[in-house]
Amino acid sequence: PRTCLVTGAASGIGLATAELLRGRGHTVIGSDLKDGDITADLSTPEGRTQLVERARELTGGRLDVVIACAGIAAFEAVTVKVNHFGAVATLDGLRPLLANGTAPRALVVGSVDAVHPTDDAIVAASLAGDEDAAVAASQAAVDRGEGHLVYSSSKASVSRWVRRTAITDDWAGAGIALNAVGPGVVRTPMTRPLLDDPEMRVLVERSVPMPLHGHTEPDQLAPLIAWLTSEENTVVTGQVVFADGGAEAVLRGDSL
Ligand code: NAI
Repeated sequence: PRTCLVTGAASGIGLATAELLRGRGHTVIGSDLKDGDITADLSTPEGRTQLVERARELTGGRLDVVIACAGIAAFEAVTVKVNHFGAVATLDGLRPLLANGTAPRALVVGSVDAVHPTDDAIVAASLAGDEDAAVAASQAAVDRGEGHLVYSSSKASVSRWVRRTAITDDWAGAGIALNAVGPGVVRTPMTRPLLDDPEMRVLVERSVPMPLHGHTEPDQLAPLIAWLTSEENTVVTGQVVFADGGAEAVLRGDSL
C-alpha cells in the first residue's frame, strides 16, 4: 500500500480519486478547506505552510503520491492563488516527502481550459513565481470584464510549470514523475450551476466540445489519475494528459 496525499479531497474529482485509492488499499490523507485529515486554505501562505507541516507530522516525512486537485473556477483574482500558487506550493512543499517515498509520483489537475485564450501577463507572472503581480494582472482582467481569463490562465500556467519542473534534477533526476491531467467538463459541484442553467450549458458545450461520451463523471477520471501516480507509471512525466472526450483535439486540431 502507498501513502497518498490528495488536496481538494472533500468534493468532486479529488473525492472520487481519494475513494478509488482507498478502495485499492492505499492510505489517503485528504486535505481541504474543511473536513478531512488536514484543513488548509491553499489560497494563503499560512494554509500552504500548514499543509506541509501537518503532512510531515502525519506521515513521518514520507509520501509516495501527491495529487493537487484543489481548485476554483471563480472569475476572480483569488482563482490564480488557488489554482496556480496553491498547487505549486503543494508540490514544491511536499517534494522532500516524496523524495523519501517509494516510486514517488505527483500530479496536478489542470484543465482543457488551458488551451483556451489566456492572459499573457497572468501566465508570465505566475511562472515567474510573482504572486502579487499575478493577482494584480488577474484583477485587471476582472476589471475589464475578462474574468474568465483568470481560470484559463491559471490552468495554462500550472500546466506549463509542470512541464518545466518535471524534467529538472529535483523531480525527474530524483525519480519523481510529475504530470497534469486536463479534464473537459466534469459533473461536480463546480460545474453544476453552469450545467443546470440552459443558457450557460449551451455556452459550455460550445467552448468545450466532447465528442466521446460527452460530459464526464468524476469517477471516470480517477483511474487515470491513479495510474499516472502508480508504481506502474515509469515513463510518463512532464505531460498534460487531456482526459476530455476529445475536446483538446477538436480545439487544437493539428497542433502536434
Ligand atoms: P469541486 O468544487 O467539486 O472540488 C474542489 C475542491 O477544492 C473543493 O472541495 C474545495 O473545497 C477545494 N478548494 C477550493 N478552494 C480551496 C482552497 N483555497 N484551499 C483548499 N481547498 C480548496 O470541483 P472539481 O470539479 O472536483 O474540481 C477539482 C479540480 O478539477 C479543480 O482544480 C478544477 O479546476 C479541475 N477541473 C474541473 C473541471 C470540471 O468540469 N469540474 C474541468 C477541468 C478541471
